[in-house]
Amino acid sequence: MEDLKQVAAKAALDYIKPGSSIGLGAGSTIAHLIHYLREEASLLESITTVTSSFNTQQLLQEYGFKVKDIASVSHLDLYFDGCDQFDHQLNALKSGGGIHTREKLLAAMADKFILLGDGSKYVTQLYTTFPIVLEVIPEAVPFVIKQVKKLFSLANPVIRLSNKKDGAVITENGNLLIDIWFSAFPPIDSINHRLKEIPGILETSLFYNMAHAAIIAGKKGVEVIKK
Ligand code: 5RP
Repeated sequence: MEDLKQVAAKAALDYIKPGSSIGLGAGSTIAHLIHYLREEASLLESITTVTSSFNTQQLLQEYGFKVKDIASVSHLDLYFDGCDQFDHQLNALKSGGGIHTREKLLAAMADKFILLGDGSKYVTQLYTTFPIVLEVIPEAVPFVIKQVKKLFSLANPVIRLSNKKDGAVITENGNLLIDIWFSAFPPIDSINHRLKEIPGILETSLFYNMAHAAIIAGKKGVEVIKK
């Protein structure tokens, strides 16, 4: 699928004008986009970038892009990001990285949020091979787990553990992640606001009704889906 991710990333270049402000998420598709951007001298010199990801930031700085701090930005022309899965209405699950709070912030700032992916990520309906992830302040974790179980009978909320050390994953904001595994998703139009009524939850990894377009590379070529 890596070649298809490259194809989707290359197609994204058509949307980027010199001088624009660009937000970039995480993952290999975004890394491919950065490689292509570097080859366009007029873009490398003129665009301003901001990213939700430490790894993406390293790459942008290494290649000499102008990188702004998220805290200094409130508007972007475009935000590009990959995802784990997205549906025909362009609702996306961004559960793997655990950096969805920053990703959602940048997506919300942008005039256009464009998803990039290979065809395997494009599904009729989101399904439960990925959890819905919550970023939660540490003090609220037991309470949030109890409330999630009360609210959704088909939910199994678990603290995300680190595979590199003994203990939980700590986000860059100093919080914990709770992966909610569902045996079937409740109606996705209401999941976010039901969860966000629970005190202690910062954000969920369900990007409901946020993306404006998706660039999908499949075996038959590139397809652009717009809302
Ligand atoms: C990180 C993400 C990534 O965009 C997602 O995992 C896709 O990665 P890749 O482009 O490597 O398939 O959501 O939070």
